[in-house]
Amino acid sequence: MRDLTKENVTEAVLDKIGDNTEPRVKEIMEALVRHAHDLIKEVNLTSDELLYGARFIQDVGKISDDKREEGVLLGDVLGMTALCEILGDIVRIGATESSLLGPFYRDGAPVREMNFDISLGDNEGEPAFVSGAVFDSKEKPIEGAVIDLWQTAPNQFYEAQMGQPKEYDDYAYRGRFITGNDGKYSFRTRKPVDYHVPTDGPVGKILKGTGRHSWRPAHLHYLIYKDGYQTIQTELFNNDSEYLDSDAVFGVKESLIVKYKKNDNKKDAEKLGFSGSFYEGNYNFVMKEDLSSINAADQYSKRASMSSD
Ligand code: BEZ
Ligand code: FE
Repeated sequence: MRDLTKENVTEAVLDKIGDNTEPRVKEIMEALVRHAHDLIKEVNLTSDELLYGARFIQDVGKISDDKREEGVLLGDVLGMTALCEILGDIVRIGATESSLLGPFYRDGAPVREMNFDISLGDNEGEPAFVSGAVFDSKEKPIEGAVIDLWQTAPNQFYEAQMGQPKEYDDYAYRGRFITGNDGKYSFRTRKPVDYHVPTDGPVGKILKGTGRHSWRPAHLHYLIYKDGYQTIQTELFNNDSEYLDSDAVFGVKESLIVKYKKNDNKKDAEKLGFSGSFYEGNYNFVMKEDLSSINAADQYSKRASMSSD
């Protein structure tokens, strides 16, 4: 038996990975071992520091349940989620760029009529009208695309966000819109506001301990799906947020920034059901054909992490 050394311990662990291991698991596990060992050598990690890290992971697990995914948040604040999206966009080139799903998606939002007020009559914040269309890669409007969207209320919280008083009705600031043959969608809301990612768990400790803020720039979340097309998972960011360059979870892309323009025209306001001036945002999406046979509507119901019960 040979002694383990700094030089041969990595090989010794890699040798243990069996030949029958599923190839993708083998690839990932080997890289994980190599990178983890390199990290330990690079910083001369002590046993106490390793134990601290293990306990940190335990704490991430302890605070997590089906309504709170601290492990996902950890990947988000370390830029790992954003990096996976960036790699995915290289494959999906030509479609609207993607961004984080975040933890506050709820499956089963009601289908709304065009121009519906998703704030359900909220008087807080700034009134806004958002519209646009969904096109295919040949600029043809896509009929029957489901636009599933959600955002924070003006109080900086998502409806049904864990730990918050139930200030808003079920599915406020959420809705599904189905495009007609012109590919268009439109809805009324209150202009999205900047808000904090949750900081009351171990991930909050990382942000605080490394001198980082927890703000996300104001945004709207979108999932857009239709069978035969690749699902779009993205966010649209307000152009006037002061956090566009310092998003706590690295989701911002230039192509996803929307300019909100003030409209003071009384007739426009009346026509849309606003009592005074309002903000207007417009964004067109591009979907790419999907050659696989995954059922579009099923993709995200599995990942829905929030529910009101
Ligand atoms: C969000 O946009 O809702 C979000 C994304 C990542 C972490 C926390 C919140
Ligand atoms: Fe969000």
